[in-house]
Amino acid sequence: MMTKNNLIKARTSSALETEIRLRQPLPTDGAALHRLIAECPPLDANSLYCNLLHCTHFATTSVAAELDGQLVGFVSGYLVPSTPQTVFVWQVAVSPLVRKRGLAQRMLHELLQRPACRDAEFLHTSVTPDNHASKALFSSLARDLSCAIQESIWFDSTRHFAGAHADEILLQIGQLPPRATRMAIQPVTASH
Ligand SMILES: CC(C)(COP(=O)(O)OP(=O)(O)OC[C@H]1O[C@@H](n2cnc3c(N)ncnc32)[C@H](O)[C@@H]1OP(=O)(O)O)[C@@H](O)C(=O)NCCC(=O)NCCS
Repeated sequence: MMTKNNLIKARTSSALETEIRLRQPLPTDGAALHRLIAECPPLDANSLYCNLLHCTHFATTSVAAELDGQLVGFVSGYLVPSTPQTVFVWQVAVSPLVRKRGLAQRMLHELLQRPACRDAEFLHTSVTPDNHASKALFSSLARDLSCAIQESIWFDSTRHFAGAHADEILLQIGQLPPRATRMAIQPVTASH
């Protein structure tokens, strides 16, 4: 007999696209988010309290993905306080059960279509040099939006992390098309 997880894996990408619901996070998602992040190395685990802040104070710029009542994806983001026309994507997490089916890409497009991001001109994120999946994800977002993507070292392994963490490379995507245009763009990866 197939387990619940194998049944999820067996679903087609187009079935998952219909069945996975994207929504704004709720405070009650905090514990599930904490568990999801733990399933998604190399993401840094943070305190449950920190995850709760993302589900409350930063809910309008964060996206939860739910399948059969289970949290299977999350994007945490915020508008940079000093430059609110920049939306910063902090973590993107997709459950191993539903990876490579276009979910991360769908969540990023959903974020950029939110009313809170109506004035966003740039998307910033940071990646470690060895996170090829993350680089591929943001390159495909830039491609879909027909935007330039620029890289620079942001937090240096030695100077900022005292050698305890790899460099964090800042990726800048933009200038973003206006929100009305973004609303009409469909992620290409959804058909995997
Ligand atoms: C990275 C991650 C979020 C991707 O989620 P996903 O739902 O599988 O990604 P998508 O299916 O939307 O794919 C988006 C693009 O990235 C590419 N991609 C996804 N995973 C990849 C991998 N492991 N290696 C290379 N490319 C990958 C896809 O091919 C696609 O590119 P395309 O449009 O050119 O075909 C997921 O693997 C994950 O949660 N990893 C652990 C946490 C992490 O590293 N998060 C990112 C840093 S914040």
